[in-house]
Amino acid sequence: MKTQVAIIGGGPSGLLLAQLLHTRGIDSVVLERKTKDYVLSRIRAGVLEQGLIKLMQEAGCATRLHAEGIPHDGTLISYGDEMFRIDFTEHTGTPVMVYGQTEVTRDLYEAREKTGGKIEFNVEDVVIHGADTDTPHVYYTVDGTAHRLDCDFVAGCDGFHGVSRQTIPLDVRKEYEKIYPFGWLGILSETPPVNHELIYANSPRGFALCSMRNENLSRYYIQCSLSDKPEDWTDEAFWQELKRRIPADQAANLVTGPSIEKSIAPLRSFVTEPMRWGRLFLCGDAAHIVPPTGAKGLNTAASDVHYLYNGLRDFYENNSTEGIDTYSQKALARVWKAERFSWWFSSLMHTYPDQSEFDLKMQVAEIEFLRSNKAAQKSMAENYIGLPY
Ligand code: APR
Ligand code: PHB
Repeated sequence: MKTQVAIIGGGPSGLLLAQLLHTRGIDSVVLERKTKDYVLSRIRAGVLEQGLIKLMQEAGCATRLHAEGIPHDGTLISYGDEMFRIDFTEHTGTPVMVYGQTEVTRDLYEAREKTGGKIEFNVEDVVIHGADTDTPHVYYTVDGTAHRLDCDFVAGCDGFHGVSRQTIPLDVRKEYEKIYPFGWLGILSETPPVNHELIYANSPRGFALCSMRNENLSRYYIQCSLSDKPEDWTDEAFWQELKRRIPADQAANLVTGPSIEKSIAPLRSFVTEPMRWGRLFLCGDAAHIVPPTGAKGLNTAASDVHYLYNGLRDFYENNSTEGIDTYSQKALARVWKAERFSWWFSSLMHTYPDQSEFDLKMQVAEIEFLRSNKAAQKSMAENYIGLPY
């Protein structure tokens, strides 16, 4: 089989790139390890930057997002019983959109299917050959049958555990990583959100986040130990702990109910450089991971896709390699700023096992500076709504 762009990974990065390329008549094939149902079963964050929304519009996939997404003009920060608001619209004129990232993936799958997009599921044994030549090709199997996909370019959109990053030789790539000494225990409940905006809560007992998917589907997280397992936490224990970590007046309004999903995610900051090797380009989680404080995962994958899509368009439409030659540098410039914000926000809001009394005082002082200083709030707002591409 032959295509112009072989895309490894059928998550949001791969699907968004495929759909955008399609709008310019550029052919691609998506190779996905799992089934579509499995991909759509993953619960992910739920805050979209305008940059991602614009890309979904450009890809012709934003109808449901605009119909069902909830614009948010600000977010709440609490510490103990204190709480204040960061007003995105006051500082930037731009809201974010609350809309499940799983729904973004669903919309992209629907668009691919409607436009006859080629997606191979249950793909195994993917090996990328010749990435450093002008004739890259991908070997893979489906149900034991071997296939070869010849292409002009390979987009590695296969996430943190994929094969694409590993294809770049160790003496070419450099990896940067920070592992956080805690995880996030998250639940989904068919209950009304405790507040119409998100609450990021710093408490002596640990971080908590009150989020939502819609007016009757709430998403809550509490910081937990890395040794915890979801089954260690009954729903009742979760609700009691969440109430202890958010302001009392918010806790009094919390509507609890049975969890319809409960999971623990570890937190990591990770970047690999470069994001390009020959005709192989890494996009999204294949190249970088952020802690979910600030919901920068998919939103940073989106800017990767923007740069790569425009670079490939330039190649095919104008026979120019300027876009693909500057892809890694442009993508990494924004990736590192997202890494910084996610690390800063995580450092501000979580309790750390080795924190000293002084460290705790610094954390509260930083939060109170943010509360009292318009420039600090503007900086936070600009990062939260998404820095420019
Ligand atoms: N071969 C084929 N597919 C693979 C392989 C492989 N060897 N390895 C992984 N995959 C698939 C996974 O099954 C997954 O569907 O690649 C896809 C990668 O998707 P994600 O992990 O969601 O990564 P990405 O598309 O970059 O999404 C980035 O989106 O949902 C948010 O916050 C989330 O940070 C994440 C962001
Ligand atoms: C979510 O709704 O799942 C969510 C929202 C904001 C975050 C992380 C997760 O920072």
